[in-house]
Amino acid sequence: MARLVVVSNRVSVPKSGTRAGGLEVAVLAALKRNPGIWFGWSGRLSTNVLATREIKGDPVSYVLTDLPKEAYDEFYYGFANRVLWPILHYRLDLAEFSRQDLSGYTKINEHFADELHDILKPDDIVWVHDYHFLLLAKALRERGHTNRIGFFLHTPFPPVEIITGLPHHERIISALCHYDLVGFQTETDARNFARYVENECRYPGDRRSGYMTGERTVRIGDFPVGVEVDSFNKMARRAIRSSFVEGVLQSLSGRAMIIGVDRLDYSKGIENRLAAFEQFLGTYPEWRDNVTFLQITPKSRSEIPEYKQMEMNVSATVGRVNGMYGEASWTPIRYVNRAHTRTALSGLYRAARAALVTPLRDGMNLVAKEFVAAQDADDPGVLILSRFAGAAVECKPALLVNPYDNEAVAAAIHRALTMPLEERKARHNALYDIISKNDINEWPIRFLSALTGTATMDGAAEASSKPGSGTRQPRRLSVGNL
Ligand code: G6P
Repeated sequence: MARLVVVSNRVSVPKSGTRAGGLEVAVLAALKRNPGIWFGWSGRLSTNVLATREIKGDPVSYVLTDLPKEAYDEFYYGFANRVLWPILHYRLDLAEFSRQDLSGYTKINEHFADELHDILKPDDIVWVHDYHFLLLAKALRERGHTNRIGFFLHTPFPPVEIITGLPHHERIISALCHYDLVGFQTETDARNFARYVENECRYPGDRRSGYMTGERTVRIGDFPVGVEVDSFNKMARRAIRSSFVEGVLQSLSGRAMIIGVDRLDYSKGIENRLAAFEQFLGTYPEWRDNVTFLQITPKSRSEIPEYKQMEMNVSATVGRVNGMYGEASWTPIRYVNRAHTRTALSGLYRAARAALVTPLRDGMNLVAKEFVAAQDADDPGVLILSRFAGAAVECKPALLVNPYDNEAVAAAIHRALTMPLEERKARHNALYDIISKNDINEWPIRFLSALTGTATMDGAAEASSKPGSGTRQPRRLSVGNL
């Protein structure tokens, strides 16, 4: 049986404390069904010898490589997170390009290719994740690898008018055509990339059957990531009775709780959201002292100036709103930077009357789907969701909002808190059904079938839209037979 080799910058190794963020659950779901290797950064930087070590396991072994210190900052803080991240989130205005950062980014992609070169077998299926490794397939091809190599972008992919603002996009974005399959979260992202390939690379072909580069046919698909619906629901049912969640509920003294959970990142729209909550307290005074907004925001990429600035802005806004509306016995906004476990979050989601998931732009946003998964079907909370999150494509029965429109978001909060039980149940039922049909197990099956050629791109699309194509009976994809 062929191995699945997953590649990502961060790797989540059990019991080691290293985490892989939003990627983690999705990648583990893929590797559980298709045993193999998860290859990535060890978390260590070195100026001397770069070690690569293997932690053997079943069904997943981990191969972790140290990275050269001098290139890492340019790669991670520079090109990946100050150039690619903002541009992929439609924020050309925030991009800070330098040739040196691009050179560090290229070096790290080359280093990954060198390390993979030593471990890859000819029939391995390689699945690369996210914007850190746009150049990796090209580097592997240059080393003679003809394996099936797929790429999945967890972030959005902007229209050609924006992505062409990326200096050297001709080299960086078109390098994606060295992959056999390039996957996105939504059809809009996939269409944007297809237009890029047509306009900028001028390869013949089309969105459905792929584009011919001369060496291969690169195919493009949308594969929306899901969540572990039923197990997350079970987790939430237990967690709401935990002493932690009970303690939080007690401290609310019967007030309704609204929840927001995001990494501290400008793409998440936290500042707009706080302004909308402030507007809500101003427009609907009957809710003062009757509702508490809990915003959980672990800090992220704090060395980058835009993130530092945002940290200060958010703290200042929280202080201002609490100062203006708070009372000795009530704090309107609880702002917490500490990261919480998934179990704790599941219980908090279930305890909340509404969730504010209002990114300005987001690839998918799994908090939206996990909030739905965590609810009590007999008394569910309401999801307020930005129309600019990838999740909005599937989650139409949520209260969809424009996160830039504070008055509309304030009205949506009021509507969520006063929504009759019957309407809450109907919306939740519909949402639960939708996320169950495309849960976490469906995603690797669809991507890997498309990559290995067992499904046409149309076939993959059909599989996802067929009622009941969810994971009630998880399938195992034998990539070795393909
Ligand atoms: C997003 C990206 C991931 C990244 C995560 C955490 O979800 O898609 O690739 O790992 O953010 O960001 P960090 O910079 O801490 O890895």
